[in-house]
Formats: sequence, structure tokens, C-alpha cells
Amino acid sequence: MEQVIARIREARQQHQDQMLELLRIPSISSDPARKRDMEAAARWVLNKMQAVGIRSEIVTTPGHDIVYGEVPGPAGAPTILVYGHYDVQPVDPLDLWDTPPFEPVIRDGAVYARGSSDDKGQLLVHLLAAEAVLALHGELPVTLKFCIEGEEEVGSPSLTPFVADNRDKLACDAVVISDGSFFARGVPSLVYGLRGLAYVEVLVRGPNRDLHSGSFGGAVTNPADALAGLIAALHDGDRRVTIPGFYDRVREASAVEREGFASLPRDDQGYMEELEVDGLQGEAGFTTLERLWIRPTLEVNGLWGGFQGEGAKTVLPAEAGAKLSMRLVPDQDPDEVADALEKHLAALAPPGVELEFIRHHGGRPFLAEPGSPYVEAGARALEMAFGKKPVLTREGGSIPVVETFRAELGAPTVLMGLGLPDDAPHSPNEKMDLDQFHRGVEAAAHFLYLARKAGA
Ligand code: BES
Ligand code: MN
Ligand code: MN
Repeated sequence: MEQVIARIREARQQHQDQMLELLRIPSISSDPARKRDMEAAARWVLNKMQAVGIRSEIVTTPGHDIVYGEVPGPAGAPTILVYGHYDVQPVDPLDLWDTPPFEPVIRDGAVYARGSSDDKGQLLVHLLAAEAVLALHGELPVTLKFCIEGEEEVGSPSLTPFVADNRDKLACDAVVISDGSFFARGVPSLVYGLRGLAYVEVLVRGPNRDLHSGSFGGAVTNPADALAGLIAALHDGDRRVTIPGFYDRVREASAVEREGFASLPRDDQGYMEELEVDGLQGEAGFTTLERLWIRPTLEVNGLWGGFQGEGAKTVLPAEAGAKLSMRLVPDQDPDEVADALEKHLAALAPPGVELEFIRHHGGRPFLAEPGSPYVEAGARALEMAFGKKPVLTREGGSIPVVETFRAELGAPTVLMGLGLPDDAPHSPNEKMDLDQFHRGVEAAAHFLYLARKAGA
């Protein structure tokens, strides 16, 4: 093991260079104009796998490619499946980036680029760990499979059926994923729950054209006004979502679990300072961590309608729209919740406007069954690499395929995120700390050996 770690440390510069290479490919999965770049990123991952000595292939799908790879381990050793995603989020608003999103630069010990933390830097860690072990020993302690997709940021529409159709190919004793963050700098965490997602776009259409707001205002339903009213009606004074049935399937967290959250080192004051806000808002009766981890929410992600140019144009817009997301917890169902939202909005809409809904991608919430020895192995691996025992946490974000892995493969998932809470994934100036990255490679190597013992 010392040799493996020494080799990983010697290769830091090469590791970093490779991360930068992958980060230069603008693989934005939601942008059809980036199809070529998506293919280039998949090919980059494939080439890297082949250089490492992983038997690998590109699996084409109706959407973006999946890169699949396999290294057979010793007879009787457990099988570990590594999952990650090479696609990234869009970069807008571009003017808020200090340096261009696909021209990675190193500042203050971190790499700044879109995808650095989410998820290119983190997925690479597992390839580099396998590379070090294979280079030294010619064999891994486990059978290792890789499933790296290009559609995570758009809800994994192709991977979900791929998993269901390839249960034998993907069969494993545990899945390991690095696509998240530590609880805090210096505090590694293992995540045992993820929220799900339902995403609905609503368009509000009124009169057949934009109207003079003096000549028509007050007599004709204003779609922007109607939309604002609809959105406001979706929460009550306690910030509970008013959609009938919204909370019906919510599994309440136990007192023990909530006490566990309360014992975590959490500082709302520091959170507010970091975000430069003078207050927080959320469902009454819950702490910040509970609001993020065990409660479902509804949020506006985008909102438009009417005059956006400079100055004041007196106009009553003919249409307005919003993009609404709902974060879900077990056992809420994304389709059911989206149906309920649409029904509720349709019932609330004033006369004189019509609503149109566009259903976007979603994902199911995930909650691990406790007690997996592989999760224990993940905890030990993080502790060995970072010198600190991880805390057990849930997450507010979503990784849609995790619940699919649980349901289809019946294997536990070890969620060992290697980012930091201030990495700004999805935001301008996303970064990955180099120390997290390099130690992450060590953690991934430790995990291979500890997983072997966990399977014994
Ligand atoms: N890596 C994130 C999910 C995540 C965020 C995990 C924070 C842990 C901490 C993932 O890439 C992501 O952004 N998922 C989307 C899913 C959606 C597009 C279906 C999300 O949560 O918005
Ligand atoms: Mn991610
Ligand atoms: Mn993401």
C-alpha cells in the first residue's frame, strides 16, 4: 500500500495535467451544439481507460455515449462498480466567470473550470487510482467496472434503461461514486441519502398580443401577474408547499436521525456570511440541514415575461413563464408530484390565461439501507487519505441513477464526495481544490483494498 501511495504522490503533476485536459472539453450535455464535444469527452475517457489497461468500450445511446470499462480481479474478489459523469452544466452567466470556464487555471491551490468538481475531477480520481495499482502490481484487489455517462445533468435518460437492460454486465457487490462534497473543509462525509427531482416548466398565455398597459391594464388578465400570483400561492406562510397531497408520501425522519444532524458542526451564521445574506427562509419547524436533506421543496429556477430592456416600456405581456423544480424525499414519486403540481396550478389559474406545461427530466430520491461493509470501507478509505473520520450525512442534490442502481442491481452505493461545499458546481467560477483531488486519488486506492476485505 505504501508503494501505491508513494506512486500516486509522485504522479501528482501528471494527474493534474490530465484533469486539465479533460476540463478543456466543453461537454455540456443539454446543449445540442455541443454534440461533438460530448463525443470528444467520451473518447477522452475511453482513451484514458485504455491507457490504464481497462478493457473498455463506448456504448452509444439515443442520447450521449456511455463509457463502460472492466478490469477482472482475482478469483473470489468482490466486484466494485465506479460511476461518474463526464457531462457538465451550462456556463451562463458567462460574464460572472473570472476566467473562461473551459480554460482551466490554477489559483490558490484550486483548479477553476466548469466540471472541475462536478464531476470530471472526481470521476478521474478512480481511474488514476486504478492506474497506479495496475502499474505497480499488474492486478487490482477487486474486479473493477466503470460506468461513466454523459447525461447526468439532464436526468440520465439513457443510462436508466441501460442499467435495467444490462444487469448482468453491471452486476456488482457495491457501487462507488465521487460526485459530491465533504460536509465542510476538513470534514469528510459519507452520504446515505439524496433528494429526488421533478422539474416542470409552466407557460402562461393571455391575449393574442402584447398590449398597451394603460389602454388594457386592469381589464385584461396579465399573464406575468397571473404567474406571480400562481407562484406565490404555492407556499403558505410557513413555507409549506400547498399542492394537495404533496407531503403524502414523505417518510418522516426519526428522532435519532434528526439528533444526528443536530450534532454535526453546523453554523447558519457562517453560511449567511458566506452567501452575504441577512436571513434564511424555509419550512417552519425544521433546521437548515433538515430543510435541505429530509424535506421536499419547490423552487423557481427561472422566471420571465414582459419587458426586460432598459428603461420603462408600458406593456402588458402576452405571455410569461417559469421553470419550477421540486426536490423530493423518499417515498415521493417524481411523476406523481409533477401531476399534482400541474393540476393544482390549472385549478388556481385566473380566467383569461391558459397554462401550458413542459415536463423536464427528474429523478427518484435515494435512501441507503444502513450497515453495508462497503460503506464502512469507504469511511476507512476517507479517513486514511484525509486523516479524519467522516460524518454520515444526506444531501440536498440529486444523482438520478443511484436509486436505479439500488433497485436494479441490489447493490449498496458508497457516496464518497471529494469536493468542498464552496466548489460552486453549476455556478460561475466552479473549482476543485487540488489537495482534495490528489488525496481523493489516495482515498480511491485505499478503497480498492478495503473493499476487498469488506467482501471477504
Ligand atoms: N453532483 C450533483 C449532485 C450533487 C450535488 C450531489 C450536491 C451531492 C451534492 C449532480 O451532478 C447534479 O447536479 N445533479 C442534478 C440532477 C438533475 C439534473 C436531475 C441536480 O441535483 O440538480
Ligand atoms: Mn455531479
Ligand atoms: Mn451537477
